[in-house]
Amino acid sequence: MLDELKKLEKTALVALGQVDTVAGLDAWRTEHLGKKSLLTTTLRGVGKLPPEERPVVGKLAQEVKTALEDALTEARERVLALEQERAAKAERVDVTLPGRPVSLGRLHPVTQTLHRIYDIFAQMGFQVYRAREVETDEYNFQLLNMPPDHPARDMWSTFFTTRDGILLRTHTSPGQIRTMREYCPEPIRVILPGRCYRYEDVTARHETMFYQVEGLAVGRDITMADLKGVLAAFAKRLYGDDRQVRFRCSYFPFTEPSVEVDIDCAICGGEGCRVCKHTGWVEILGAGMVHPQVLRNGGYDPEQFTGFAFGMGPERVTMLKSEIDDIRYFYSNDLRFLAQF
Ligand code: FA5
Repeated sequence: MLDELKKLEKTALVALGQVDTVAGLDAWRTEHLGKKSLLTTTLRGVGKLPPEERPVVGKLAQEVKTALEDALTEARERVLALEQERAAKAERVDVTLPGRPVSLGRLHPVTQTLHRIYDIFAQMGFQVYRAREVETDEYNFQLLNMPPDHPARDMWSTFFTTRDGILLRTHTSPGQIRTMREYCPEPIRVILPGRCYRYEDVTARHETMFYQVEGLAVGRDITMADLKGVLAAFAKRLYGDDRQVRFRCSYFPFTEPSVEVDIDCAICGGEGCRVCKHTGWVEILGAGMVHPQVLRNGGYDPEQFTGFAFGMGPERVTMLKSEIDDIRYFYSNDLRFLAQF
């Protein structure tokens, strides 16, 4: 019996030495110290032994039990440390793994063109002035010589808000009045960039939301020659000396005389394509000498002051520069297109 107890202790301790998980410890405990374990049954059976054997076997069985319990406590510490080490290894950041590439953003092609336009005009002494996108009928039309029912309003159908007389501006020209009213009687040289909205069919050259950059110069002795000089210089700076610029007579209610400026079509080289409507030229802006009544509406006396104004579309400017044949690419959020700029 005593030998059996010794053997039992030895076997249990060897088995414990091989346990390396908490679950394994629990299983070992049930097997070697649990209610149905050999040790427990031996202890229970001590009472049935002959009286002379009882104290010796009882003592040894108790000693074995204590030894196993102590060994279990020690083993638990060892196993917990092992488990922690394993968890740390499993959760460790592997600094040798290649990083995930971060996709870099960039400025939208139209924003890039706007920055280029600001640069060129800044060098000619023009400041950037911001005017509002949500306008009144008065500023968008009436103060620009388009009273209600004026037929020229048909060229600029827009989106109206639910508040009477409040609309999304169709062009940046209402900013002319706002600038004049703010700076009068000082001379002015500003550009006014921003979004415009039109209720019209979307085509290769027309969007319902697009940008414009308005230009306005007001002062004494400003002539049509200044307008032509500034715009020709701008076109050459942007597109290079080889590009052709064309001034065409036109009509705007708020300028007199009025012109439209075309650049020879870079997409077809002047041969004719859908972007240039098969004419070989693409219109990039409208311009003219500020109408005397508009000067008056801005607070300036047209007997003393003259001025010129223009409004260009940066999308069209970008299309010509980068040979893009459809304006709809700009706002369709296709990264394959946007990533090329
Ligand atoms: C005007 O909007 C006038 N306010 C321009 C002006 C300003 C004339 C100051 C005289 C003095 P127009 O409708 O032609 O004019 O538009 C001017 C430019 O905006 C066009 O040449 C074109 O480049 C751009 N543009 C007009 N409509 C659209 C559109 N739907 N989509 C994209 N670009 C457009």
